[in-house]
Amino acid sequence: MNCSRKGDGINTTSEKLRLAIRPTWPILCVGLFLLALVVQNSDAVDRFFVESYIHAPPKLQGPSTQSQALRLQASEEIVKTLPTETFLSEEEQQKKSSPEKDDEVDDNLTFVPSAGVQKLVESLREATVKASGGEPVEFSEAERQAWEAEHPCRSRAEIRDLYAERKHMKDVPINKQWNLVYSEYEKLHRTCMKRVGDLQQYFTSKNTSVACSFLIAEPHFGLGNKLFHTSSVFLYAILTQRVILIPESTSIPAVMCEPFAGSSWVISDEFHNLIKEGRDTSETFWKAVDGDKLVVRQAKGTLGNSVYSSSMNDEWVGPEPRFWCNTEQTYMNSVTWLSMSGCTLFAHKLFAIGMFRDILEDLFPNKLVLTHLLRSLLLPGDSAWERILHVNEVYLSEAQKQVGIQVRFFQEDEEYKLKNDRINNRITKCVWENKILPEVCPASPKDKAWNDPKFAQCKTKMSAEDHENPQVIKVLVGSLFLGLHDHLNDIYLRHEMTTTKEVVGIIQLTHELIQGSGAEVDTQALVEVISLSMSDVVLITPMSTFGGVIQGYGGVIPWYIEFGPEEDPPVVCQKGKAIEPCYMGASQYYQCPYDDVGEKKVSDVVPYLQDCLAIDVGYGYKLNMIPQGYGMQMTPDNIKDQDFYI
Ligand SMILES: *[C@@H]1O[C@H](CO)[C@@H](O)[C@H](O)[C@H]1NC(C)=O
Ligand SMILES: *[C@@H]1O[C@H](CO)[C@@H](O)[C@H](O)[C@H]1NC(C)=O
Repeated sequence: MNCSRKGDGINTTSEKLRLAIRPTWPILCVGLFLLALVVQNSDAVDRFFVESYIHAPPKLQGPSTQSQALRLQASEEIVKTLPTETFLSEEEQQKKSSPEKDDEVDDNLTFVPSAGVQKLVESLREATVKASGGEPVEFSEAERQAWEAEHPCRSRAEIRDLYAERKHMKDVPINKQWNLVYSEYEKLHRTCMKRVGDLQQYFTSKNTSVACSFLIAEPHFGLGNKLFHTSSVFLYAILTQRVILIPESTSIPAVMCEPFAGSSWVISDEFHNLIKEGRDTSETFWKAVDGDKLVVRQAKGTLGNSVYSSSMNDEWVGPEPRFWCNTEQTYMNSVTWLSMSGCTLFAHKLFAIGMFRDILEDLFPNKLVLTHLLRSLLLPGDSAWERILHVNEVYLSEAQKQVGIQVRFFQEDEEYKLKNDRINNRITKCVWENKILPEVCPASPKDKAWNDPKFAQCKTKMSAEDHENPQVIKVLVGSLFLGLHDHLNDIYLRHEMTTTKEVVGIIQLTHELIQGSGAEVDTQALVEVISLSMSDVVLITPMSTFGGVIQGYGGVIPWYIEFGPEEDPPVVCQKGKAIEPCYMGASQYYQCPYDDVGEKKVSDVVPYLQDCLAIDVGYGYKLNMIPQGYGMQMTPDNIKDQDFYI
């Protein structure tokens, strides 16, 4: 798998590593051999991280006029409270006329969006009006039906019901504000695509006659990485009223539903290549901002039409440090085509950008973002959905409880051979200590453990009634290898009973040995991600984006398995502090030469953007090499806001 810049001829791992860990480029794409290098306890690499990145606030790149604050005029027209009715999305209006019974759904649809959300909805509507150029793009009910027949997406209607079947988990509450924003965005997307017509022609002729701007998501690597990046880009597209586009080669169009009714977000690889050839680099863009005279910069914050198309990052790792600055954001508005490549979850760091913060805090009051993004933008297409339903019917549906365990060895075979036993033992200890799975009873009364009070129940054998109504726990294992499956299976198959009389079955769908790529691989990966996300409890591998999308889709706070090198660690697993996964490699400091925030630490400005848990980000942590971790995670004010376990 290759995730380097186009045609840059970077072939050696050390060169890639050097590029990736340059202070301004601290981000790693999890799942690469690149990471494996870091994981190998290489002192040199880890120290480099600590010294060049964790401790030292990075150097600013622009001229040293940092205290020159840019006062962003938050758009003056303070949004008046609009009549409530106008905020019903189309879907909700339909529901209103035929209310459905659903315990989880609050049927009171007449809600008043909070101020930030009203402001965002207004911006989206204004953008749609401008895009329409006085000719509103209608989308009739008949057109909707025709479009849906052509682009079926059963999961959109069915996925919530499947999550609602979990016996020990309430599903995440519906976020009406998000649904409203999504349907407003959909109108903008539809209008722009219709009015522009031939996108490629529009791009190549540097046309700007339609008031629309675009954002190309360029996700890389495995499925988890792609979903992290694409959902983050989408949130940014909404905030900036850009039309999000996705190249065919990402395999996302082959695996997922078309997300926007009456339109498409797919671009051909041929067109994508033209964009890659025709765009400016981010370096050029930052220079253009720096080159603007200060007075002018403060007054207008625009480059006019001088930059038609630009990348927001010159490497594949995601947004660059200056992306997180108000001033630069204002300038970006004048660029018609932006593209962003990457493989990490940066969505919640958008809360760090001053001009978006109020809106985002209002839009996601319980700090739950990824679940809503994934379940609206990135829904499994019908073919993947069919498979998910089969898996559920055949293996999972009658369980009293489902436990999902995802194990990922980044160095694949080599690490597996080295660590398989150790990790299996930790997982077993974790699920027993935390009562996620019941312990097995000692084989016979002669066993020393027999008199331990925790085995009290073992003295009564299982009765016929117990078997009439068996309490079945199903454990779904997601791994490239069979090690954990065989280990747990041996335990539960070869013992008469468990301390709770529950019966435990172990299931693993595939064991591919190496991580592949392509549409079929991604489809099967999605089937496993969603199946695992239907669990009541999930255990995941630190730093794994595959694990991250399991918790994201499912809306569950995961348990992290300790993957550190110690033979016998004091803590074998730890419950996470949020549903939101970690933004791996996120820079902890602002680098905003023209903003008030200057070089401040992000968490000093936005307290809920915290370091990720040490168990999640630090193999190196255990070796005292990465004292604070090196990722950013959004944590709710109160863990109860995100803990839906019952
Ligand atoms: C709906 O919510 C509003 C505002 O919270 C409240 O005033 C109204 O009584 C509710 N209506 C119903 C039918 O529950
Ligand atoms: C610009 O694009 C619009 C919409 O596609 C089209 O009608 C118009 O002819 C284009 N203008 C030029 C100069 O190509």
